Amino acid sequence: MNTTVTVSAPGKLMLFGEHAVVYNHPCIVTSVSERLTLTMKQTKEHIFTLEAPNVNIHGYSKTIDTLCTGEIPRGVQFIEHAIKIFSKIHAIPQGISVSTTSTFSPLYGFGSSSATTVCTLFGLFQLTKIPVTQKELFTLAYKTVLDVQGKGSGFDIASAIYGKTILFKTGGEIIESIETQQLPLIVGYSGVKADTKTMIEEVKKKMESYPDKVNRIYTAIEQIVFQSLKCMKESDWERVGKFMSFNQEYLRDLGVSTEKLEAMISVSMKAGAYGAKISGAGGGDCIIAVSPPEKHSDVENAIESVGGKIIPITTNEVGLRIETV
Ligand code: PMV
Repeated sequence: MNTTVTVSAPGKLMLFGEHAVVYNHPCIVTSVSERLTLTMKQTKEHIFTLEAPNVNIHGYSKTIDTLCTGEIPRGVQFIEHAIKIFSKIHAIPQGISVSTTSTFSPLYGFGSSSATTVCTLFGLFQLTKIPVTQKELFTLAYKTVLDVQGKGSGFDIASAIYGKTILFKTGGEIIESIETQQLPLIVGYSGVKADTKTMIEEVKKKMESYPDKVNRIYTAIEQIVFQSLKCMKESDWERVGKFMSFNQEYLRDLGVSTEKLEAMISVSMKAGAYGAKISGAGGGDCIIAVSPPEKHSDVENAIESVGGKIIPITTNEVGLRIETV
């Protein structure tokens, strides 16, 4: 057994297909340059400890046999459940000490929980020297997230593991890397933390009350996903932007946009973006805009003028990796 390992996984942005992907439709997700890093040590005492300053967890400690019991802070739940799920199929080290750091705020909606889950499981596989495939890792991490969160397509987990830009279908039925260039993307944070679970619940209610309408929206979003896929392969950013705006119209119909997000999208368009939309569940978090290079700073200034914060990122980044053993 190794005694220490450090692994890292990228954050993500949803480019097309959010919400529809919860209902068996495809989406497109890209991984970003911001990363979460996790160091795991095996120790002799039967204790789990965690330092996670990125989610305000300091000096957290409990015995291994009490994992997943009692009050667990949100920032710790995914790690404890991941260890528990791993322990059901493989022997875990006697004691486990974990620390995490991140180059991005958990408030942005870049997928810090899924990156943490994936890194925890991968760390355990590395420490115990048990070989694992990306797909096996996806299955375990997806199970972990469903245990903690109850609902979700798993797109964020796939992005953390596989990286790059991928076409993804619910539950990992399709995970396909898309050959595309660096996306000329601008990211604006709304300053409001979205609650993905609540947004999924809201949309579920809509689906129950108006199934025909919502299913029509999802079918239209699926078409946008495939059309934009083609444009992304051809680096036709103008059309990619247009499709983002079309996708946003449907997200608006689903009721997941907010005044703040709309303000950021509207000024981006006025400043010359090809297109803009929310990224993820809505209700807050970030918008993304695609713009011609000469309009880039105008669009950024416009987003800031309505109170958005520009988050500089690059897309199409490398997935889960070992940093040091
Ligand atoms: O809010 P985010 O960035 O976690 O994105 C959620 C996307 C949904 O499609 C609404 C949910 C999911 O798991 O696919």
